[in-house]
Amino acid sequence: MHIIATTAQSGIKDFSYFNEFLQDSGFPLVARGKQSLDDLIRTHHADAVVVCYCQGPVLYHDKEKFFFHPSMAKNRLAAYRKNGTADPFASACRLKADDEVLDCTLGLGADAIVAAYFTPAGRVVGVESSPAIAQVVKWGMKHYDSSMSWLNEAIERIEVVNSEHYEYLQGLDSGSFDIVYFDPMFRRPLLKSQAISPLRALADHRPLDKAAVKEACRVARKRVVIKELAAGTELQRLGCEAVIGGKHRKIAFGVIEHRLR
Ligand SMILES: C[S@@+](CC[C@H](N)C(=O)[O-])C[C@H]1O[C@@H](n2cnc3c(N)ncnc32)[C@H](O)[C@@H]1O
Repeated sequence: MHIIATTAQSGIKDFSYFNEFLQDSGFPLVARGKQSLDDLIRTHHADAVVVCYCQGPVLYHDKEKFFFHPSMAKNRLAAYRKNGTADPFASACRLKADDEVLDCTLGLGADAIVAAYFTPAGRVVGVESSPAIAQVVKWGMKHYDSSMSWLNEAIERIEVVNSEHYEYLQGLDSGSFDIVYFDPMFRRPLLKSQAISPLRALADHRPLDKAAVKEACRVARKRVVIKELAAGTELQRLGCEAVIGGKHRKIAFGVIEHRLR
């Protein structure tokens, strides 16, 4: 995907953020002039254009906008904080305060934010192969600020890496994280999932590779957790020993415990 970057029509307010973003992403800068974003895309034969605003970058493509927002994580954590409602992902991972979590499929970062909230003394690294998603989410997280300090603190602690997860796992020492997590794009999309819709066109849709799960088992000190559709056979194919939450739910979590390997 060819992605270009440009400024807002009102110009740049924070030069250091904009320069860091350009260096980090490698997206070429094009002058905005008086052109519309659609015209810029056409002129530069690009697929998408990113505009850096104070609140974080926004990627425009095919008349759609993609930007970081923590709404799903916010709702899940607010339900936990208000009523003690258990979060199915956090329960499947059995998160402890000092756990180190590697999220191999960052996406919009909702699960990573939940993981960071429950591991205040640990570490959360989120790996994302799509450069568009990784950069927009990484820099959107850096600029996110809400009135909820518990949410800001969780988001601030996430380290985002733009990499294919198998390659990234191969470069890690054995036992470098407590939990390694995968939430690949479903083979059959849940079309109602509003949270995932904006990233669908930008995402890596490849099925989870057994070789990546094998590497994850080497890297995870405690367990590997995989989210999938409860109805499919993916979790069996990937060798999960225990499946949580499948029967009456659309989503299930497959778990591979280290002690059982
Ligand atoms: C279903 S989304 C994850 C949603 C995420 N758990 C959340 O809470 O927002 C899957 C994400 O994984 C990314 N992905 C798929 N295959 C990948 C791979 N091999 N390496 C890294 N990221 C990958 C996709 O681009 C997509 O953004």
